[in-house]
Amino acid sequence: LARGVAEPDLRGRHVVVSAGGTREPLDPVRFLGNRSSGKQGYALARTAAARGARVTLVSANAGLPDPAGVDVVRVGTAVQLREAVLKAAADADAVVMAAAVADFRPAAYASGKIKKKDGQDPDPIVLVRNPDILAEISADRARPGQVVVGFAAETDDVLANGRAKLARKGCDLLVVNEVGERKTFGSEENEAVVLGADGSETPVPHGPKEALADTVWDLVAGRLG
Ligand code: CTP
Ligand code: CA
Repeated sequence: LARGVAEPDLRGRHVVVSAGGTREPLDPVRFLGNRSSGKQGYALARTAAARGARVTLVSANAGLPDPAGVDVVRVGTAVQLREAVLKAAADADAVVMAAAVADFRPAAYASGKIKKKDGQDPDPIVLVRNPDILAEISADRARPGQVVVGFAAETDDVLANGRAKLARKGCDLLVVNEVGERKTFGSEENEAVVLGADGSETPVPHGPKEALADTVWDLVAGRLG
């Protein structure tokens, strides 16, 4: 289906998209972060809005302009992202977790800037696990029939890793990207396979992040019926 003018097939639906990458602070000036640009999540938000959905975009440190007609909730850390996503998901028809969520955060936050001490080695950084937001939403659907979508960047046996992750997370769809040079981070384009919990496999050829976003919404819309 050509999408010059989008079909309003998500009209009346509320969808939640997380985007960007969380930052886990060590002290007032430092954090542990990742390279997610937020572009794929923003493309998902824009395309859902174009298809008529009410969209809540939970944005972690993306530094991109707010898409028109989208409710944007800004967050910093994984714990804040979880709060915002769970709140928005309460009445959502679909939740798409495109954000790169830090798996770990520093166990302690120093309220003052961490300083070097003469002749001393630095203290090690102790990490603790962050909550797994996708697994939690999938296990505990706020609404019957709510469609939950995850993203995964994989190397090596991409499909096998993706299948195992889909099962572990319990989501309906998992968009699997192969990562490597030139691929994915910060790029305008993407290439992926969308795995379904029903065993389906939808390849998405290399192309703009909007095209991948539209394929995700096609699959979501099909599951919403
Ligand atoms: N995710 C999440 N909460 C986390 C970690 C990841 O909701 N604490 C979501 C991401 O937003 C993404 C999906 O889970 O949609 C897969 O993320 P990924 O990092 O690939 O999964 P992990 O289970 O963390 O596996 P890995 O050990 O490979 O990083
Ligand atoms: Ca991870």
